[in-house]
Amino acid sequence: MSWREDALKKCLEKIKRNIEGIGEKFPHVAYEGRYNNEKASFWTAGFWPGLLWLLYMEKKEDSSLKLARRLEERLDEVLDGFVTLHHDVGFMWLPTAVIDYKLTGNPESRIRGLKAASHLAGRFNLAGRFIRAWNDDIAAGCQGWAIIDCLMNIPLLFWASKETGDPRFCQIADAHAATVLDAFIRPDYTSAHIVRFNPCTGEKIENLGGQGKGPDSAWSRGQAWAIYGMAIAFRETGKGEYLEAAEHTAEYFLSHLPEDKVPYWDFRCDLKERYALDSSAAACAASGLLEIAGLVKEAERKEYYRCRAGGILKSLYENYADFSADTQGILQKGTVNFPKNKHINVPIIYGDYFFTEALIKWARMTNIF
Ligand code: GLY
Repeated sequence: MSWREDALKKCLEKIKRNIEGIGEKFPHVAYEGRYNNEKASFWTAGFWPGLLWLLYMEKKEDSSLKLARRLEERLDEVLDGFVTLHHDVGFMWLPTAVIDYKLTGNPESRIRGLKAASHLAGRFNLAGRFIRAWNDDIAAGCQGWAIIDCLMNIPLLFWASKETGDPRFCQIADAHAATVLDAFIRPDYTSAHIVRFNPCTGEKIENLGGQGKGPDSAWSRGQAWAIYGMAIAFRETGKGEYLEAAEHTAEYFLSHLPEDKVPYWDFRCDLKERYALDSSAAACAASGLLEIAGLVKEAERKEYYRCRAGGILKSLYENYADFSADTQGILQKGTVNFPKNKHINVPIIYGDYFFTEALIKWARMTNIF
């Protein structure tokens, strides 16, 4: 068995074991071997059900489907309650309702996906052509904020357009991606985390540091969101500038990795801050690289991206994965928010999700969303 097969087998075994241990929680980060439980409205609520769907895809494990459905149903309170909804509805309803609908044809899941997409489309700022991040409770005057992470939400809009035949969702996704290219991605192909626009005129005001080191830094997970999100924007629109951006942001990521191919929390952090790593950024970037491999035409380029994704996944497997039965997290050493000193070098549920997703993509040569 190759290391990739072994890694996927062990991830799937661990997800199956976690069905009992995690159950109906909405996990985010793990301490002392156990995942915590966040509110259902928190942006990471889709990743545990997403892992359950990945297990179902691979093994047709009935208990996995049942728990994923139950969690999807629990999210209805958030979707229909509306007031706690934010921009991350793609992260939440793609790996729950949309994947359920794709795999089982469940009509209720289709409606959930379309409701979430309608909410996301409704957050579009027409003057600035961006999707607004977060809500008023995050900071004063944040009506004009947009964040790089939101590129990972727009696949929900691309899906909704295909599903309904209505181009408006796709138009909004495309407009947002074009704004990201223009306002977030710098000439050296690093990305800002947050950009503040004037919400009335749409004019860009400034970059904000957010979860990165500062306004001019290169937050590693933000860089991974850019790689993956731009690749999908190309896949869905055919616009070459998005593929070019995906390839260049990927090149920055790859050429700044330390020897073991897992980045520090920010590529431009101080030497003394390099103890804080982000395995989740590595896993997400690997999945994005595999996406690019599926999109570039030349066989040599395909091989290049598969090979670089493989290198990252191998290091995650050898140096960061914990497959033991007495802990719940798979990938160790993810960092949520270094500037706020929140969750440093811990397992994070989306690290586990993107690691497993990438291993499946590698094996099946297919994308998930
Ligand atoms: N979307 C927030 C994060 O990547 O931590």
